[in-house]
Amino acid sequence: MEKHSLAELSETEQRLVREAVAARQSAYAPYSGFKVGAALLDEKGVIHSSCNIEGADYTLTTHAEMGAINAMVRSGVLRLKRMAVAVQAKTGWAMPCGLCRQKIREFAAGPDVEVLGVNLDEAGNIREIYASTLEELLPYSFGPEHL
Ligand code: THU
Ligand code: ZN
Repeated sequence: MEKHSLAELSETEQRLVREAVAARQSAYAPYSGFKVGAALLDEKGVIHSSCNIEGADYTLTTHAEMGAINAMVRSGVLRLKRMAVAVQAKTGWAMPCGLCRQKIREFAAGPDVEVLGVNLDEAGNIREIYASTLEELLPYSFGPEHL
């Protein structure tokens, strides 16, 4: 995993990061207080984004990454090339949870798909960005081709 500033990223990566940060503004997370935004670039070059949406029962939660993937599938595209996830993590990096990693795996264009973990400070400014590949996040993974 590599640590970057926004300026070090390519134009496409920066756009994705900004879309993830913007999507986070719509997060509905009154129970955890932990807002997440995700934006992905599909294989046709279109960006899809979403945020986490919680429920009063505490289990009815849609993760931001899953929402973005659902939007991509709804649009008729099944492969994603990159994803950015924006959070305000208390410490360390900010990467998709295990469930989301598996869902990214289902629709990733390949193991080298890039995942950008964007960590915001209390004011909402970008503090640091961690870059990783799906392969690094989910090694020896299970996927559709194994069935
Ligand atoms: N969350 C996400 O949206 N994505 C992840 O991969 C990690 C967790 C959300 C779920 C819940 O609304 C809040 O973050 C705290 O777990
Ligand atoms: Zn998740």
